[in-house]
Amino acid sequence: MNKVIIDADPGIDDTFAILLAAESRYIDLLGITIVAGNTGLENGIRNSFKILDMCNKDFIPVYKGAEVSLENRSIEADYVHGKNGFGDLDYEPIRRSTSGDAIEFLINTVNNNPGEISVIAVGPLTNVALAIMRDKDFAKNLKSLLIMGSAKVEGNVTKFAEFNFYQDPHAAKVVFDSEIENIYLFGLNVTTKLPLTEKYEEYLKNHDSELANTLYQITRLGAAFDRKCGHDGLILNDPLTVAYLIDSNVAEMMDADVDIAIDGELIGKSFITLKENGKCKVAYDVNPELFYQILFDTVIEKKY
Ligand code: RIB
Ligand code: CA
Repeated sequence: MNKVIIDADPGIDDTFAILLAAESRYIDLLGITIVAGNTGLENGIRNSFKILDMCNKDFIPVYKGAEVSLENRSIEADYVHGKNGFGDLDYEPIRRSTSGDAIEFLINTVNNNPGEISVIAVGPLTNVALAIMRDKDFAKNLKSLLIMGSAKVEGNVTKFAEFNFYQDPHAAKVVFDSEIENIYLFGLNVTTKLPLTEKYEEYLKNHDSELANTLYQITRLGAAFDRKCGHDGLILNDPLTVAYLIDSNVAEMMDADVDIAIDGELIGKSFITLKENGKCKVAYDVNPELFYQILFDTVIEKKY
């Protein structure tokens, strides 16, 4: 059983990642820490309560994290995720409050369970960087860190940079320069091979579950945007990190060192250098059929 904390900026693809982690029998989701990114912090918190309500897991605690990046940068992606971060789907807010501070939760949980906790970071890395900077033992005590981020070829914010690393490049540099030993990085080079194609859209739209139908509805805005960008549907970036923890056959990894540009025109660009026994494992290929089988068999069909 994988003990996991998800750090997210929900966000549409974050929604799929959170649902997959919450529903998988191979993952014990200890909590969700929220960071501003795709949408503002309060929207992210509100959406996480809705997501947990959708899968009847509202006992999972949610923690409030960083409202701005380390250097007060702030961009939002309402063109994909909607103004409310949930595809502009209107829903009755879930009457819940957060369970505390995200950075404290990350530090306390990891340090009280050395070598046992994996963090899955699918938003800007601000919360993780703050935990590293505030506690000298956090990085060493973390079992593993799985990150959605980086653009080996073409970025999705600038031509160089992917959103999570562009939003907080300084946090990303803190993370890759830290003592964390097991970093797994999943970038746009592999996630753009995972469009929610028409076949999958029809499956969600026609499925006899409210959850599936809601997922269809919240993906409409992003699907239109990604198709305009030339993709064959909405790119589900974030859930690949969770799917890899469930079944590592879903992606092929290579050893590499990673550095991040923190200023100038290249800001947020990741420099990935192949290196035997490199500090990170970086994904270079992915199995889309296996990915969607894991995702939908777990989240929609409740098979495992
Ligand atoms: O670039 C894609 C990443 O940025 C995803 O995590 C998406 O949710 C946004 O946070
Ligand atoms: Ca995200």
